Amino acid sequence: MQTAMLLHPKVGGDQRAMPTDREKSFHEPVMPDEVCGFLSPCLSSGTVVDATVGGGGHTRHLIEHSAARASGTTRILGVDIDHEALTHAHRILQGSACRVVLADSNEDAASEAMVCRVASSVILVHSSYVDMESVVDRLGLRPVTGVLFDFGVSLHQLTTPGRGFGHDVVGDADMRFDPRSSCPPAWELLQRATESEVADWLRRYGDEPNSRRIARRLCRERGRIRTTEDIVRVVAASVPVSRLRRSLARVFLALRIAVNRELDTVRKGLAVALRLLEQRGRLVAISYHSGEDSLVKSALRDGARAGRLQLLTRKPMRPAFAEVQRNPRARSARLRAAEVRA
Ligand SMILES: C[S@@+](CC[C@H](N)C(=O)[O-])C[C@H]1O[C@@H](n2cnc3c(N)ncnc32)[C@H](O)[C@@H]1O
Repeated sequence: MQTAMLLHPKVGGDQRAMPTDREKSFHEPVMPDEVCGFLSPCLSSGTVVDATVGGGGHTRHLIEHSAARASGTTRILGVDIDHEALTHAHRILQGSACRVVLADSNEDAASEAMVCRVASSVILVHSSYVDMESVVDRLGLRPVTGVLFDFGVSLHQLTTPGRGFGHDVVGDADMRFDPRSSCPPAWELLQRATESEVADWLRRYGDEPNSRRIARRLCRERGRIRTTEDIVRVVAASVPVSRLRRSLARVFLALRIAVNRELDTVRKGLAVALRLLEQRGRLVAISYHSGEDSLVKSALRDGARAGRLQLLTRKPMRPAFAEVQRNPRARSARLRAAEVRA
């Protein structure tokens, strides 16, 4: 059987862009060379959508890669549901080889899209990737020749007080990727959920062995839960000290997935991306959770069985040892890629 590495286009070592300190402090992009290897051939013939643009790390690598290859006009649509991420991406990408516009309104986006068709540009739009097809059509950015998903949470989100993603960062237990959305934050969701729903999230999304015990206590004390510290206190009272850190990581992961309905969103996003891609267009997805990866795996496998997709990775690619040493957060990453058949 062919391995992922054999199918993976090689990236020249001299083209490797080192992360800047600013980029590292926001989020260091995972497997950037592999992403560029798959997506840079798509840059010269249409729009590449960075569907989870975050701090703009992958987009920056793609721009540098395409500049190094002198591959003509580069058009990247960067989408994220988090305004803070888009603002950061806008800052980080200034000074790159492209025009970079943060489209705060439909008018901004439409006028930038006109320029985008003739000059190398990155257009950043606040949207869920589930709605990226309507963004692409509104801005006239077809053909779409590549889509990148880098699921999960950015380092910035994880470490910012008040976002609620990190169990060791004190603040409101919010956990929404889009804090301006009307969806309930984690602490409010916990007020409404039944004990069996909470236990189910902890078991299914977090693989937490003490799911029932923690859920029972979370529900019993729900009236007093508002901050990350409140959740930490409940978990600490439910599991032995030796297991506390791992349980905290699992409980926070599970609640984040539940708050953002992540698996449902991932499934829908993949379907939209596969519909949007032109012939020979490529989809690249990096997952950090087994639930995400199995959705990616089955979407690509079903596409391949239907004769629409050619798998570019038969097995998920994992980050190189050196990358994990440099960026331990990359260790759980799994990258899968496929191309739409001509
Ligand atoms: C791991 S980060 C991406 C980091 C990015 N690749 C980089 O290099 O900086 C994941 C991003 O996905 C975003 N996200 C989560 N759900 C989303 C959705 N439904 N639509 C668009 N973006 C989403 C998060 O806000 C976060 O910024």
